[in-house]
Amino acid sequence: MTTASDPNISPVTDANISPTTGAPLVPSEHPRRRSRSSDGNGRLLSPAWAVGIALGTVALAYVTKRAVSAAPALVARAATARAPSEDKRSAARWKAQQLTSAGDWLFAALDHHRDIEGAFGAVSAARPGEDRAAALKSLATLLMGHSIAEEAVLYPALAEAGEIARSATAYREQALAKTQMAALADIDPESDAFLSKLQEIRAAVLLHMYEEEGTWFPLLKEQLSEMDQRVLTGRFLDEYRRYTHAAV
Ligand SMILES: [Fe+2]
Repeated sequence: MTTASDPNISPVTDANISPTTGAPLVPSEHPRRRSRSSDGNGRLLSPAWAVGIALGTVALAYVTKRAVSAAPALVARAATARAPSEDKRSAARWKAQQLTSAGDWLFAALDHHRDIEGAFGAVSAARPGEDRAAALKSLATLLMGHSIAEEAVLYPALAEAGEIARSATAYREQALAKTQMAALADIDPESDAFLSKLQEIRAAVLLHMYEEEGTWFPLLKEQLSEMDQRVLTGRFLDEYRRYTHAAV
């Protein structure tokens, strides 16, 4: 026996039969179709749909306005980020290093982090002009390649492992770093403001890497199986190479 809600019955076929007489219905007679707005005949929306869409539009406008007004606050937060002490960062890196296997995703991520730290130093030390521009390009390529690989592979895995809030924080912090790198590109590279902004970004990135090495990545390492770790490694290296090789 079948019912109207039987998943084996096409709702379209069922809907073309009158529930009272059993006779076929012409399109304009069907009650469900009359109550919907998308009848294809250019009729006006029903009041309920119009109200729903209006409320949805207002909600979207509200959320968009909140996001835009929050942007300066996020930027201000980036400017006040304080890098952890050298001792704390060394301890976190040592802890993460103990969990690596040669060539795995964590080994590669720590390698990237060291390269990024070196690249920040190279920009600061470079003479204004072509040298600084070249050093900045290298830093931007490393940062972007590394963050893309993390966002495509590691942060989703972190969320899947149940660490949803930490995953969201990781995405948010990296979005902020990208925003700040774009702002840096608009500042005269020979000015003091450039070096000041560079130091703000460096502090925020060092804090982010400290969180990854001290907490997030060890969690990910502990929670995934050996098989999952191998898959993660292949995908992480692929994503990083895809960007850094294309950017050369
Ligand atoms: Fe990272």
